Amino acid sequence: MAILRLVRGDITGEKVDAIVNAANQALVGGGGVDGAIHRAGGPDIMAACDRIRDSRGGCVTGSAVMTTAGKLDARAVIHTVGPRYRDGDAGEAELLASAYRRSLELARDNGLRTVAFPSISTGVYGYPIEEAADIAVGTVLEFMDMEPDALDEVRFVLFSDDDLAVYQGVYERLSGA
Ligand code: APR
Repeated sequence: MAILRLVRGDITGEKVDAIVNAANQALVGGGGVDGAIHRAGGPDIMAACDRIRDSRGGCVTGSAVMTTAGKLDARAVIHTVGPRYRDGDAGEAELLASAYRRSLELARDNGLRTVAFPSISTGVYGYPIEEAADIAVGTVLEFMDMEPDALDEVRFVLFSDDDLAVYQGVYERLSGA
């Protein structure tokens, strides 16, 4: 049975099998957590992203790809692309759930048993944090319920106390904790 943990911190310092990055479709890097991961992990991560872009054009929204973790204390980085938030009626919820699900499947399929997620889409991409947390925590709990032996731990690493409090509230509501 996998456990879900919620912590506040900088995801680049996490010691896990897989660190998930909130990337863009072109995998070209950016600000936010993407910039932090490339800075801390070094150039090998971008070199691997370049190869994925050259061979298959990048990563579509709602999907995920895997690279080396470079200098990070992890075995891999899973780059997923969340949706840009428009008005909530443009399929954003399905795409965000898909980003989490595909990342979890990629971890499972590669024997990566501990996975750290940032709060995907809630920075530059503007997804309201309450709605995003609902989808993030709900999708992870559903995956753990369906596949209890696939992973050991999923950790959400939230960058602020406010974000952590939102995720904790959602977790308590959804898990009945
Ligand atoms: N560790 C954990 N969380 C972080 C870190 C970090 N080091 N740095 C930022 N965050 C948080 C932000 O505070 C936000 O809550 O990650 C969350 C996601 O924000 P973004 O990184 O802006 O990601 P997103 O909204 O999905 O936008 C993706 O931004 O950086 C570009 O290339 C990226 O184009 C893509 C877009």
